[in-house]
Amino acid sequence: MVKILAIESSCDETAAAVIEDGRRVLSNIIATQIPTHKIYGGVVPEIASREHLEAVVAVVDQAMEESGCTFSEIDAVAVTKGPGLVGSLLVGVSYGKALAIALDKPLIGVHHLEGHIMANFLEHPELSFPFLALVVSGSHSGLIWVEDFGKYRPLGQSRDDAAGEAFDKIARALGLPYPGGPAIQKAALDGDPHKYDFPRAWLESDSYDFSFSGLKSSVLNFLNQCRMKNEPISVPDIAASVQEAIVEVLAEKAIKGAVSEGTDTIVLAGGVAANEQLRERLQSNKQGIKIIWPSLIFCTDNAAMIGAAAFGKYQRSDFEDLSLNASASLPIFTDVHCS
Ligand code: KG4
Ligand code: ZN
Repeated sequence: MVKILAIESSCDETAAAVIEDGRRVLSNIIATQIPTHKIYGGVVPEIASREHLEAVVAVVDQAMEESGCTFSEIDAVAVTKGPGLVGSLLVGVSYGKALAIALDKPLIGVHHLEGHIMANFLEHPELSFPFLALVVSGSHSGLIWVEDFGKYRPLGQSRDDAAGEAFDKIARALGLPYPGGPAIQKAALDGDPHKYDFPRAWLESDSYDFSFSGLKSSVLNFLNQCRMKNEPISVPDIAASVQEAIVEVLAEKAIKGAVSEGTDTIVLAGGVAANEQLRERLQSNKQGIKIIWPSLIFCTDNAAMIGAAAFGKYQRSDFEDLSLNASASLPIFTDVHCS
């Protein structure tokens, strides 16, 4: 049994977890900063790093206590090394390094998005490689062929605003709270998804890339026009139409990608995977493709997912030395490849 203590601090959640064999969650502690950042309508990086500093020791201690393990029973320490806010990442990376030296255990650095994908193993014992992952977070949208731990082939990536970013920015313009995705989902319940035909960026016919900046600009222009003309704005109808525009593109490209790769499984990963409309749309596919997603708590940022991804690296003895640094813009999966 391999027990990994994992730490995640890339954005606005300070999280620690103990994971056994990459699949069993012995503890999963998350200290969220959302109430703090809500006041400003988005994450304030300086405040985020300070709050991580204040929380990290207690969060790790609590994760250890709830796991019922002692530090000496831990086989490795894993940390998110990037991408994310550099000041926030540095807190987790520095603390993880210090723990690894003090405990004399191997140190594992995990790509945040690799964590989001592997979160699916925490609750789906039936899941096995290979599969197609639709990765949709606040900073990235992508369709990634996952051959094995460490073997990835991106089919398509964000060209500009990520899906979560579009949700957050449009929500802000609508006067909805941060984070925007859940707020738009909630407002959309009372709206008509076909009221407004906002643009879908399908891009070139063979492209699996995603682009949501055009949608964002179109909604912001529409809101400005309404305000200039003193026309009423129906937040529920706009929210429902925006959600429809985002979900339609994500779902259609994901299904097309799965068909072209000949796979029967799509896994959802990242905060936007929490979106119920997205799940429903994908699940109603006529091609018989199985759709798998993590529970809400494992969709948004957490450390259990980092422990799940770290297990693959542990098995390959893919350890970091003490030169490990936080990397704000760690490119997607450059340190991994598909053979
Ligand atoms: O993965 P995540 O927690 O952090 C990043 O790695 O970026 O994703 C956060 C993003 C935010 O943009 C948030 O608005 C979005 O996930 N999100 C949602 C939902 N819940 C969170 N978007 C749509 N529907 C949701 N229910
Ligand atoms: Zn994330």
